[in-house]
Amino acid sequence: MSRQHPAAPSAPPSPHAASPHAAAPGAAHRDWWRDAVIYQVYPRSFADSDGDGMGDLAGVRSRLPYLRALGVDAVWLSPFYASPQADAGYDVADYRAVDPMFGTLTDADGLIRDAHAQGLRIIVDLVPNHSSDQHEWFKRALAEGPGSPLRDRYHFRPGKGARGELPPNDWESVFGGPAWTRVPDGAWYLHLFAPEQPDFNWEHPAVGDEFRTILRFWLDLGVDGFRVDVAHGLVKAEGLPDIGTRDQVRLLGNGVMPFFDQDGVHAVYREWRTVLDEYAGDEEPAAASAPGRPRRTGGRMFVAEAWTPTVERTARYVRPDELHQAFNFQYLSTDWDAGELRRIIDRTLDAMRPVGAPATWVLSNHDVTRHATRFANPPGLGTQIRTAGDREQGLRRARAATLLMLALPGSAYLYQGEELGLPDVVDLPDEVRQDPAYFRGAGQDGFRDGCRVPIPWTRTGPSYGFGSGGSWLPQPSTWGELSVQAQQGTPGSTLELYRRALRLRRAEPGLGAGDAVEWLRAPEGVLAFRRGEFVCVANTTGESVTTRSHGRVLLSSGDEVTEADGEAKVPADTTVWWAMT
Ligand code: NOJ
Repeated sequence: MSRQHPAAPSAPPSPHAASPHAAAPGAAHRDWWRDAVIYQVYPRSFADSDGDGMGDLAGVRSRLPYLRALGVDAVWLSPFYASPQADAGYDVADYRAVDPMFGTLTDADGLIRDAHAQGLRIIVDLVPNHSSDQHEWFKRALAEGPGSPLRDRYHFRPGKGARGELPPNDWESVFGGPAWTRVPDGAWYLHLFAPEQPDFNWEHPAVGDEFRTILRFWLDLGVDGFRVDVAHGLVKAEGLPDIGTRDQVRLLGNGVMPFFDQDGVHAVYREWRTVLDEYAGDEEPAAASAPGRPRRTGGRMFVAEAWTPTVERTARYVRPDELHQAFNFQYLSTDWDAGELRRIIDRTLDAMRPVGAPATWVLSNHDVTRHATRFANPPGLGTQIRTAGDREQGLRRARAATLLMLALPGSAYLYQGEELGLPDVVDLPDEVRQDPAYFRGAGQDGFRDGCRVPIPWTRTGPSYGFGSGGSWLPQPSTWGELSVQAQQGTPGSTLELYRRALRLRRAEPGLGAGDAVEWLRAPEGVLAFRRGEFVCVANTTGESVTTRSHGRVLLSSGDEVTEADGEAKVPADTTVWWAMT
């Protein structure tokens, strides 16, 4: 089956400094996801309702009022499906069942209903690149032996070498080591991640059929969208050609690989889009609308986890008949540097405008070192950092980076705990680690446990209110002070900064809307842009800077802004929001 699709139209030269169509007050009935703030819940680490040390769906349900008060629009839940947990649930054994560790389907149903009643949308994770090796299809494919038609639903191949003792090609797993594992009857199967995660063969029609019914299953249950795991990986290059070099992990994200970002994936998304569009058209729950804010439409949505070399390649996933949004990993990977940030902001907006998709912005998730720790360390270290660095600087910059992100047009993704300013836990003892990449060594993401430590809700008590028992990863003894209880109502706390910012973003007509910013002149190391009657200034330098005053200060991520004679002093590593009227 051919999955070719003409390349995306190339972006016309764009005057991104032109009109601030950002603020379009009263813009009626825009798709809710275009400017949504979406909060990622990592279910095992959010809230534990039964004291077994592992978060669960009932725990999430009980904390919906917190999310509502925080001011987010939607919640994306990392996988909670039946899974042996070889990769924290990204190894799915049954796509239509909830793992008992997280609860039941009734809990999922109740969570979706409660969320809707509170005006929150629910996005679930879909894992189509691979299943668990405990998935029924894979177990039967193995048991039935060579020649089983079920083996065609995965990538089984004979090995190379005189006795087939060598893997079929030279591909390496993202988690380190070969991307192939040999089974007792001598055949090899492909797994781009852990051996417990065999890759599906998307050329086989049964795979597509199965995923269309999985989509409908969750859509019928009422979910508002899907986050598509490894969206760039489903289709492999014809003939599974060798790459010809080792340490392929270095190449990821630097070019099109024979197993990533192949043109053929786009046919899958065009099919999926037709399924989703059957469910389009529902109005948002009344509880979600705020005074002065248009009622949103747009039904269900997809967001792609597509690690591609450039934002231009990412834009191909969100063409009008494909997915709705894609994570902006280029933005996530950018250091706290005004020039670099401006470059990626412009490039993103320019890449998304021709396809009509909203830009997205993200600073943290469950696969990377939290941004409070990334920015505590020197630039250029990437997204897997093992040192605490200068915590004060990290938090100051993280808060400033968040205000900058929330002022940009498009949709923003938050990761649980960033609203508390949580750092990564960099000193977890080896014996508690669970990230499969850590154990395979030389892989891409071996230190992801550090951002997955359960979040603190209370100052004291077992697991700081995460649950009545312990927590599956140990929490630092200092986390009581970072808890929700310690921060709520505390002026200047990171939690209150997020609440305020999200409230303003909702109230200020147009923040998040549009597809352009109007850059203003600013000193070296400072970003300043205008969007309608709103101005954002981000000082990325370690010194305070003097800029024009832009009217009324709405919010500062750091110390107070002092203003006199039409000038304002913006403190070091601080972002300030102004209203011009
Ligand atoms: C991306 C997920 O975010 C990550 O946690 C997982 O390990 C891989 N995909 C494999 O599913």
